Amino acid sequence: MTRASLDKQPHEVAAMFDDVAAKYDLTNDVLSLGQARLWRKAVAQAVGARPGEKVLDLAAGTGTSSLPFVVDGAYVVPCDFSVGMLREGKKRNPWMPLTAGDATRLPFADGVFDAVTISFGLRNVQDTGAALREMLRVTRPGGRVVICEFSTPTWAPFRTVYSEYLMRALPPVARAVSSSPDAYVYLAESIRAWPDQPALAGLLQEAGWSKVAWRNLTGGVVALHRGTKPEA
Ligand SMILES: C[S@@+](CC[C@H](N)C(=O)[O-])C[C@H]1O[C@@H](n2cnc3c(N)ncnc32)[C@H](O)[C@@H]1O
Repeated sequence: MTRASLDKQPHEVAAMFDDVAAKYDLTNDVLSLGQARLWRKAVAQAVGARPGEKVLDLAAGTGTSSLPFVVDGAYVVPCDFSVGMLREGKKRNPWMPLTAGDATRLPFADGVFDAVTISFGLRNVQDTGAALREMLRVTRPGGRVVICEFSTPTWAPFRTVYSEYLMRALPPVARAVSSSPDAYVYLAESIRAWPDQPALAGLLQEAGWSKVAWRNLTGGVVALHRGTKPEA
């Protein structure tokens, strides 16, 4: 079993997701206590895809995070660098244009997408800034980005309870439901080490995104950051 560490070596991250692919979506639902579905709805609302728009869902895994955009009538390209996750997605939804690609070297031309989104993926990318700049490159001027990622709960007492959940309850629950429990130790560690809401907003701005703002979900367990590519 491959377990990534906080230096996020790309081959280790990809191999870790290859290993969890078969049970990934089920484990997600259990560990998020059912919140994952609500978070996905909020992402779709924030992206606001219109029929015919081209949406890149980066680090799409099995493509579950891409489905809401299909429902909205957009043309969505799910892209990920774990072939195991892509294969699992292809089994379930053979019609999806699942694409292999690394977030820091995207296999797309400049300015081809109306919107780029990434759910629970950016935290796993070794070079956050490089991914944010690549996302900007493939977005058309005036297009938008939406990032859905674990973040920092805003209410201090809840923050403490949540941190305990991550470090104490999550690993045993993961052991019970997942075939690769070590991956969920990495999950807990990587969430704790991830920038909080203002810090991630700063990284988006540094990468060249404008009109950056965020919205907290589930008390800040998750944050949706959004930004716009400046018109040329
Ligand atoms: C936690 S899963 C999220 C999958 C999906 N977006 C969802 O919401 O269920 C994270 C995904 O990020 C992918 N990933 C991590 N680093 C990546 C990179 N540099 N390029 C492309 N995909 C990457 C992993 O392979 C994995 O499938």
